[in-house]
Amino acid sequence: MELKPKLRRFLSDFLDESKLSLLERCLTLEPRVCVRTNTLKISSKRLVLLLTERGWQLTRVPWFKDAFFVEGATNVGKTPEHLLGYYYTQDGSSLVPPVVLDAKPGERILDLCAAPGSKTTQIAAMMHNEGAIVANDVSSKRCKALQFNLQRCGVINAIVTMMDGRKFHELGITFDRVLVDAPCTGTGKLIGIQGKGVNRQWQFYAGIKLARLQRKLLESAVKCTKKGGVVVYSTCSLDPRENEAVITKVAEKFELELEKIDVPGLKYERGLKAFDGREFVDGIEGSIRIYPWHNQTEGFFVCRMVVKE
Ligand SMILES: C[S@@+](CC[C@H](N)C(=O)[O-])C[C@H]1O[C@@H](n2cnc3c(N)ncnc32)[C@H](O)[C@@H]1O
Repeated sequence: MELKPKLRRFLSDFLDESKLSLLERCLTLEPRVCVRTNTLKISSKRLVLLLTERGWQLTRVPWFKDAFFVEGATNVGKTPEHLLGYYYTQDGSSLVPPVVLDAKPGERILDLCAAPGSKTTQIAAMMHNEGAIVANDVSSKRCKALQFNLQRCGVINAIVTMMDGRKFHELGITFDRVLVDAPCTGTGKLIGIQGKGVNRQWQFYAGIKLARLQRKLLESAVKCTKKGGVVVYSTCSLDPRENEAVITKVAEKFELELEKIDVPGLKYERGLKAFDGREFVDGIEGSIRIYPWHNQTEGFFVCRMVVKE
C-alpha cells in the first residue's frame, strides 16, 4: 500500500525512505485495540477477570498500568461492561497526553478541546474524581457525546462548557494545568482502514489553515494557565507545521519553559529541531513524536510546557 505521491513528498522532508516504508506498511495493519479501565468504577484486576471470561486476551499497555491491548474481541464498544462505564475504548497513543499532563487530585484542570472525552475521563480517573475539570468543546454535537461519556464513566468532578477555545481566556479563570488536544489533519492516523482515508483525503493547505487555529487555541490556553502551571499540547498529526512550528510561534510570544517528556515503556522519537528551512525553538527536542510503527498505534505529537513565574 503506497502513500499518495504529494503526501509522500511532503513527509519525505522529515522522514527518510526506511521510515516512509514503515509508514506504508502500517496502512496494511490495524492499530491494536486498546481499552482503559475506568478506575472510578472498577479495578483493573476485576475488569480483567470479566473480560477474560468473554474469551478476550488482554496484555497490559506498558506506558499506562490501567490500560490493555485486546485480542480476540468483537464489538468492544457494545458489551454490558462498556455500557456500564467499566472501560473506555481508546487508542494506545491517545493515553499519552493525560499521562504527560499528570493532573493531581484536588487541582483545577482545563481540557480545552475535550469532546468526546477520552482524555477528560482518563484525567478524572487519575484525579480520583477530586478537584475540578472544565471540559470545553466548540461543537454542540460533540459536547453531547462528551456529556454522555462523562455520565457513563461516573465522572463527578467535571463540567462541560461549549465555547470557542480561542476565546476561553476572556473568562479570566486560571487553571493549574491545561490540555490542548487540538483539532488537526490527523496524519498520525496513517494506519489501518482509517489511514487509507487519511491518505486519500490529505491536502497540503489543510495543515496551514489548521496551524492558525491551533496557535490561537494554544495562546488562549497559556493565558488561562497560572504562573508555574503546566500546558500540554497534543495532536494526532505528524505535520511539523501543526506541531513544532505552532509551539515555536507561541513560545516566541510568551515566557514558556519546554520540558523534556519521558514516558517509560513507550517507543517514540524526539520533536524536530527544524523543518522547511526553519529552526524551531530551543527545548523542542523535549517534545515527543509517536509514529504509527513505533507501538502499532495511531501517531501523536505531545509537548509539555511550564508557564514561567
Ligand atoms: C482531537 S479532537 C479532541 C479529542 C478529545 N480530546 C478526546 O480525547 O476525546 C479536537 C476537538 O477540538 C474541537 N474544536 C475544534 N475547534 C475548536 C475551537 N475553536 N474551540 C474548542 N474546541 C474546538 C473539535 O470539536 C474536536 O472535538
